[in-house]
Amino acid sequence: MAEKEVLIEVKNLVKKYGTGEATVFALNNVSMKVYKGEFLIILGYSGSGKSTLLNMIGGIDKVDSGEIIYKQKDVTKFNDKELTNYRREAIGYIFQFFNLLSDITIYQNIVLAPSSTKDKAEIERILDGVGLLDKKDKFPRQLSGGQQQRASIARALAKTSDMLLADEPTGALDYESGKDVLKLLQKLHKEGRTIVMVTHTKEITALADRIITMKNGQIIDERQNTPIDDVDTIDW
Ligand SMILES: Nc1ncnc2c1ncn2[C@@H]1O[C@H](COP(=O)(O)OP(=O)(O)OP(=O)(O)O)[C@@H](O)[C@H]1O
Ligand SMILES: [Mg+2]
Repeated sequence: MAEKEVLIEVKNLVKKYGTGEATVFALNNVSMKVYKGEFLIILGYSGSGKSTLLNMIGGIDKVDSGEIIYKQKDVTKFNDKELTNYRREAIGYIFQFFNLLSDITIYQNIVLAPSSTKDKAEIERILDGVGLLDKKDKFPRQLSGGQQQRASIARALAKTSDMLLADEPTGALDYESGKDVLKLLQKLHKEGRTIVMVTHTKEITALADRIITMKNGQIIDERQNTPIDDVDTIDW
């Protein structure tokens, strides 16, 4: 098999909160890689450091020490302008609570997002792909939670990012809507997208090529997996 291409390499990341005896190591010397085209799931209990790690990879938060290597450059050394470019060009972010702007339509949420394609036909193709073409002129509040999450995935897809980072994308959804979102992410993975998804639901890891388990700010397990084909066969 051909050598897998490394997209991101995280080296010895440390992130502390608080001082003295109250110090919490959100990340305690974490090293990992993200490979191009993989579906990586980061699993762990609440407070284990999953979001902190994802936010560091996404260039959202500052590290205390360590490196994040992307295209031979260390993201942790980027100035504000470089960081903004990195966030715009390398990363598509999907949040637990969607983060859609409420006063503009679904279509506008996509076309007005930084670095988004402005090509109407392309945006409509993406909306069609997430099953929302008929909702494009609705406002977020007129959509169900699952539909809003699919809209936020469409927004992430409308820019040419190298990877999709998803933090508990099913966390705010009911069971069936959550499954729809997972099916969508699985479809995107099969189309070649690199996906890093955070969850605390063990059953969902059946979808991943690789699973990293975190505990107390550290990686305690890492394993390969043969992803299942049918999201409907998993239960949680
Ligand atoms: N802004 C902050 N200020 C202080 N402590 C923080 C902050 N953000 C995170 N922490 C602490 O860092 C640790 C890791 O938090 P993190 O949000 O990464 O966990 P998580 O695995 O994503 O949890 P969850 O599943 O609940 O989202 C926790 O102990 C948390 O309390
Ligand atoms: Mg979290």
